Amino acid sequence: MAETEIYRSSTFAPVNIAVIKYWGKRDTKLNLPTNSSLSVTLSQDDLRTHTTASCSDSFTSETLTLNDAPQDISGARTQACLRELRQLRQTLEENDSSLPKLSPMKLKIVSQNNFPAAAGLASSAAGFAALVRSIADLYALPSTPTELSRIARQGSGSACRSLFGGYVAWNQGTQLDGSDSVAYSVAEQAHWPEMRALILVASAEKKDVSSTSGMQATVATSTLFQHRVENVVPGRMEGMEKAIKERDFPAFADLTMKDSNNFHATCLDTSPSILYLNDTSRAAIRICTAINSSAEDGKPICAYTFDAGPNAVVYYLASHTDAVAGVFKGILGSELEGWEGVKGRDVKAGSVPEGY
Ligand code: DP6
Repeated sequence: MAETEIYRSSTFAPVNIAVIKYWGKRDTKLNLPTNSSLSVTLSQDDLRTHTTASCSDSFTSETLTLNDAPQDISGARTQACLRELRQLRQTLEENDSSLPKLSPMKLKIVSQNNFPAAAGLASSAAGFAALVRSIADLYALPSTPTELSRIARQGSGSACRSLFGGYVAWNQGTQLDGSDSVAYSVAEQAHWPEMRALILVASAEKKDVSSTSGMQATVATSTLFQHRVENVVPGRMEGMEKAIKERDFPAFADLTMKDSNNFHATCLDTSPSILYLNDTSRAAIRICTAINSSAEDGKPICAYTFDAGPNAVVYYLASHTDAVAGVFKGILGSELEGWEGVKGRDVKAGSVPEGY
C-alpha cells in the first residue's frame, strides 16, 4: 500500500503588548472592537508560540494541542479561522488543478508557548497568530500579513497585531463585515530598536475574569467606558503614532501609562468591579513613578502597562537599562517582601523574520 503523504508547516509568532488598549467589542462574533489599539511586538526569541500545522488524508479527526494538552477545536473562533483559511486554499485548488487537494484533509495543530498561558501575557494573541500563519504557510496562501490579520482577529482580537513585528496598530474599521478591521505596521522594529520591555510576572495563575467576558461586562455596565471610547482613545492613537514616528520616549511613556490607568479604571467602573491589579502590580506602579520622578530632566524614562492580569510590562530605552531594569532587579532580587516568585526579564521589542 502506498504511504499517505503528510504535509507540514511550522512557524513562530511573537507576543504583543498594547500601549493603547483594545477593550470592548462592537461585534462579538467577528471580534470587531469599539476602539483602535496599538502595541509593541516583543522579540520572539523571548516570548512566543511555536505552532506546527499538518494535514493528511490519513488523519481521521481534527486536533489542536497546546503545551501537550488537547484543546477544544470546535469553538466558533477557531472554526472561523479554519473556515476562512480552507476557503482560500480551496480557491487556489480550483484555479490550479496541479495543486494537491489539501483543503478537504483534516488538520493536526500542535502549539507550544514558552510563557504561562492565560496569565495576562497575551497568550491568545501569539496563539492565534501562530495558528493562522502556520496553516497559511501549509496551504501556501499568497495572503499578506494584513489579510491574515483579518482572519487572526476572529480567533482573538489582539492576535491580529502579532502578524507584524515592531510597532503595530489595529484599525477598528467601519465596515459591518470587518473587512477593514485589520492591523498595519506603524514602524518597523529597526525604526526604534532601543525599545526594551521588562516583564514582571506577579502571578502565573490563570486570570479570574477572561478578557472576552471582562470586556463584555465593561461595555454593558461602565459609563466611564463610553467616555474612553468616544473622547479618550482617538486622540491617544494619533499621539502614540506620532510619539513612535518621532521616537519621543517621554510622550510614548506618558500615553502608555495613562492608557493603562484609563483601561483599568473602566474595569473598576464595571459592575461587578473587575480587579486585575494586585498589591504587587501597584508596587510596580510606585517603583516606576519613583524612577520617573528621579529622572534628571523630569521626563519619564519608564512606562508601566497592565493587560487583563496583574503582570506588569515596563517599557524603557536601552540607554536607561541601569536606571530602570537595574532598579527593578535590585528590588526583586532581595529587598522587597512579597515579591517572591516574581520574575523580571529583559525583552527587546522584537521583529518577525523576513517573509513572516
Ligand atoms: C487587555 O484579544 O485577549 O490585552 O478578542 O476576546 O480574545 P478577545 O480578547 P483579547 O483581549 C486583549 C485585551 C488586552 C488589551 C490589548 O491587548 O489590546
